[in-house]
Amino acid sequence: MAALGFTSVSKSFAATTVLDDITLQIPRGEFVAFVGPSGCGKSTLLRMIAGLETVTGGEITVDGARINETPPAKRGIAMVFQNYALYPHMTVRGNMQYGLKIAGTPRAEIAAKVEAAAAMLQLTPLLDRRPGQLSGGQRQRVAIGRAIVREPRVFLFDEPLSNLDASLRAATRVEIVRLKEALPGTTMIYVTHDQVEAMTMADRIVVLNRGRIEQVGSPLDLYHRPANRFVAGFIGTPAMNFLPGPAHPETARGAAEIGIRPEDLLPAGAGEAVLVTGRITLVERLGEVTVVHLSQEDGSTITAKLPGTAAVGRGDALSLTARPGALHRFAADGGRME
Ligand SMILES: Nc1ncnc2c1ncn2[C@@H]1O[C@H](COP(=O)(O)OP(=O)(O)OP(=O)(O)O)[C@@H](O)[C@H]1O
Ligand SMILES: [Mg+2]
Repeated sequence: MAALGFTSVSKSFAATTVLDDITLQIPRGEFVAFVGPSGCGKSTLLRMIAGLETVTGGEITVDGARINETPPAKRGIAMVFQNYALYPHMTVRGNMQYGLKIAGTPRAEIAAKVEAAAAMLQLTPLLDRRPGQLSGGQRQRVAIGRAIVREPRVFLFDEPLSNLDASLRAATRVEIVRLKEALPGTTMIYVTHDQVEAMTMADRIVVLNRGRIEQVGSPLDLYHRPANRFVAGFIGTPAMNFLPGPAHPETARGAAEIGIRPEDLLPAGAGEAVLVTGRITLVERLGEVTVVHLSQEDGSTITAKLPGTAAVGRGDALSLTARPGALHRFAADGGRME
């Protein structure tokens, strides 16, 4: 498996720049998640790695060698899409071995590779079925299996689980984590809208916004030390609350804005410093936690994650304090302040 490099990579469609100055090194064996709002360029970047889109500027390398002009089939890169794109008339086995057959791989070798991939993905009992006889999660595993047998140097996933329902998604997520462990040294890039996927699967997360990298870091880095207001607001659900700094001069210490995560707000006890106060407009009881929406006097809304059994109701007044050390401070340009 290979290391992947990007040096000042850009992409334009006619006059529109959709990726700008992407510079990033992904070591061999790393699992990297690309996250960002819809339209920020995630799929385009994957397609450029796979060779399905041209590179407008800069350089993409695999193990140090430029691949900008390498034809897709020669890159040794496999891509798994959101819509699995299986051949409906072929069995699972047929779908998985198709690429190897085309490449002229010997029959015994094909059989061995398909059996091994099927075992890894728990598809062995399904090898003689057709895609129409499979669940969405099983189809997606076949699509992954079809990619594995080719022993790609780099594995690309573009929202592979987004067509699955919540429980199947969680189960398939676990499969992919197992796959990652079964294929150590495999470089994987995983595009997702789902933060839980990114947080739980990735060694590092790349946050993209409007075609640029906002931050690269481990999941907990991004959560605890977001580099700027965009990342702070993007990572974490419900999203971080932002308060105008000037309204909280002592806490803000010169920051334009302060940020506090919903889970870092606690009901203020007697004598404790109150950070926000307002009336409860909505209570969401999720079982283990209760998400409370608070309308402040200035009309802004704050969300807080309280214990599941919190005795709160709509219309109640509530004052909240910040967990010590949990405040984030941001400068006027959005950058993090220490
Ligand atoms: N072939 C194309 N021609 C023109 N513009 C395109 C083309 N493909 C993508 N774009 C534009 O490039 C931008 C990035 O698209 P891309 O599909 O990479 O976004 P994305 O981050 O994958 O979004 P999503 O999360 O919705 O899948 C979008 O504004 C899109 O409209
Ligand atoms: Mg996309």
